[in-house]
Amino acid sequence: MFPSALPRPRLLSPAAVPGLRWGIIGPGWIADRFAEALRHHTHQQLVAVAGRNAEKTQRFAEKWAIPQRFDSASALLEMKQLDIVYIATPHNHHFPDGLQALRAGKNVLIEKPLALNAHEGMALKQEAESRKLLCMEGMWCDFTPKYDVITQLLLNGDLGDVHTLLADHGQYFPADHRIFNADLAGGPLLDLGSYPIALSVKVAGGVPEQVFAQGQAAPQGVNGQASMLFTHSNGTHSVLNTTLFSNTPGRAVIGGSEATLTLDGPFYAPGNFTLSASQGAQTLVWQDAGQHYAQLAHEIEHAAWCIGQGIGDSPVRPLSTALMTLITMDEVRRQLGIVFNEERPH
Ligand SMILES: NC(=O)c1ccc[n+]([C@@H]2O[C@H](COP(=O)([O-])OP(=O)(O)OC[C@H]3O[C@@H](n4cnc5c(N)ncnc54)[C@H](OP(=O)(O)O)[C@@H]3O)[C@@H](O)[C@H]2O)c1
Repeated sequence: MFPSALPRPRLLSPAAVPGLRWGIIGPGWIADRFAEALRHHTHQQLVAVAGRNAEKTQRFAEKWAIPQRFDSASALLEMKQLDIVYIATPHNHHFPDGLQALRAGKNVLIEKPLALNAHEGMALKQEAESRKLLCMEGMWCDFTPKYDVITQLLLNGDLGDVHTLLADHGQYFPADHRIFNADLAGGPLLDLGSYPIALSVKVAGGVPEQVFAQGQAAPQGVNGQASMLFTHSNGTHSVLNTTLFSNTPGRAVIGGSEATLTLDGPFYAPGNFTLSASQGAQTLVWQDAGQHYAQLAHEIEHAAWCIGQGIGDSPVRPLSTALMTLITMDEVRRQLGIVFNEERPH
């Protein structure tokens, strides 16, 4: 039956979120938005930052009033007064930086994707488990109120049997952007593509049974776009595209027998969605006010909550789920012949 109202988002009680001391490795584009969200929308403390470029790191530290700055991750990780490290380096640094931080006894929040491939992701999981530390992938959308409401709709069966997921994430990038750099695991798949692939794993509840992928190379030599068709064991079809060649609407549609969920683009970010009954004219609308990246605060507070509770693996985005996304991306890359430098025999 079509619900009379949308479920309420389940928000953390501020009293259950301890104030922790955070360090950042990689003061780049997303780290800037992260620092802003942490400073203005949480009660967490930003106590240290490490970057390769001393001037840039100093500017970042001054902008966000961060008392300690370092020119290497190892130097930052020697700090005793540090509870958790946010890793915001390029994809191929997530695994070595994450491993180093865990081995230094620090909890980690690692930008998405958790690692380059499932093999690396598994090694991070094992390291965190053996040290009883939190290791969490910063798939920030999963922690937002919007995604929590969608999760509840799916769990309640409000869409009926889900048959179809359509999702895309395409963005035009200038030719000199790091996203085209083969030495930084370039291409859309680990970057933009991780959102639609993660959504398909979430909606269908696991790794697809069958994957069919087509790709197109960019002039720089890395993959430039990928189109994917997944068949899941419950019969769901996911039809996905990710591209670096153009801006695409970034909408997502989750089609069920009872109702269809249409997420405005970009579907993974805070924004609106509509639940429409399959028969009749009933609709329910979710509206998110602006402040896009302010909602990084939800993943920050969730990580702090996990540590406060002594939980090493987030119940919202468990590492097993992050690994399913990596396993699926590994298969897409196998079909497209995409091999990262780190995966080649030395
Ligand atoms: N959650 C989101 O919405 C979101 C959005 C964008 C990106 N991301 C993820 O965040 C990660 C970083 O993306 P970004 O756009 O912030 O990148 P970026 O602006 O290029 O920042 C990367 C940071 O890593 C540092 N770094 C360390 N080793 C490096 C190396 N060998 N080459 C280049 N940089 C190196 C850079 O150092 P310097 O400071 O010395 O230059 C810079 O501080 C990516 O994995 C991406 O998927 C997430």
